[in-house]
Amino acid sequence: MLATLTLLLGLPLTLATEPPTCAPLVPVTFDNSTIPGLLGHWIYISGASRYPPHLAELKALKHASFSIFPSSHEDELNTIEVLRLNETCVVKNVSKIHVFWHNSTLMHVDDQTVSIAKVIQSDKDLLILKHISHDFPSLSLSARTPNVSKEHLEEFKAQLHCLGFTEEEIFSTSEKDACPGEETGEGNTDPQPE
Ligand SMILES: *[C@@H]1O[C@H](CO)[C@@H](O)[C@H](O)[C@H]1NC(C)=O
Ligand SMILES: *[C@@H]1O[C@H](CO)[C@@H](O)[C@H](O)[C@H]1NC(C)=O
Ligand SMILES: *[C@@H]1O[C@H](CO)[C@@H](O)[C@H](O)[C@H]1NC(C)=O
Ligand SMILES: *[C@@H]1O[C@H](CO)[C@@H](O)[C@H](O)[C@H]1NC(C)=O
Ligand SMILES: *[C@@H]1O[C@H](CO)[C@@H](O)[C@H](O)[C@H]1NC(C)=O
Repeated sequence: MLATLTLLLGLPLTLATEPPTCAPLVPVTFDNSTIPGLLGHWIYISGASRYPPHLAELKALKHASFSIFPSSHEDELNTIEVLRLNETCVVKNVSKIHVFWHNSTLMHVDDQTVSIAKVIQSDKDLLILKHISHDFPSLSLSARTPNVSKEHLEEFKAQLHCLGFTEEEIFSTSEKDACPGEETGEGNTDPQPE
């Protein structure tokens, strides 16, 4: 009786010592609604990485938006990305995303780099990717509009802190650095560079 009571009382105490904000990152298992949810226009909001080449790119990245389009293959998506790296706007329209249905991963391929990622469960207007191609933690947040709610942003940052990133290691983009000709308002799924 006393032992049971101790156990019952002991349990909440043990749980209370766990960091309260480290919700697990739950990957999405792909189904027939996954791809429709990925298509369209996204704005890159924030991210962090310990993978050196990725980190270098994050440091230079001032703004990014991308659109995902279906291709003639159900296992392949086309993307157009508009990036501001330092001061320079760059349009990348040659990259592809391969969809691996059997293990629910995406592989992004552009002319120089390959990156493999899991989609993390979140709000339908957010896209959280956990990059797993290298043995370094790496997480990114994109959204349908530039104005992500404070709650969602805090939640994402909490996840990064749980992965061991400090505030200084988290890179965020700013709408004021959007490339000219880009309209980031809702409903714009056709960001043709001028
Ligand atoms: C998607 O999958 C679910 C469950 O497997 C099925 O019930 C549904 O009919 C499918 N929808 C389409 C559009 O294929
Ligand atoms: C951006 O600027 C930094 C610092 O000046 C430089 O090291 C880096 O190579 C630049 N990156 C790009 C892609 O221009
Ligand atoms: C990609 O860019 C090249 C060169 O600017 C252009 O010729 C091509 O049509 C573009 N492709 C798409 C899908 O926009
Ligand atoms: C998923 O499968 C692809 C192709 O077979 C492979 O390249 C990738 O590494 C796999 N991802 C994981 C997380 O196992
Ligand atoms: C965010 O921006 C979109 C489009 O720019 C707008 O429709 C929406 O009302 C904004 N939401 C908030 C919370 O400001």
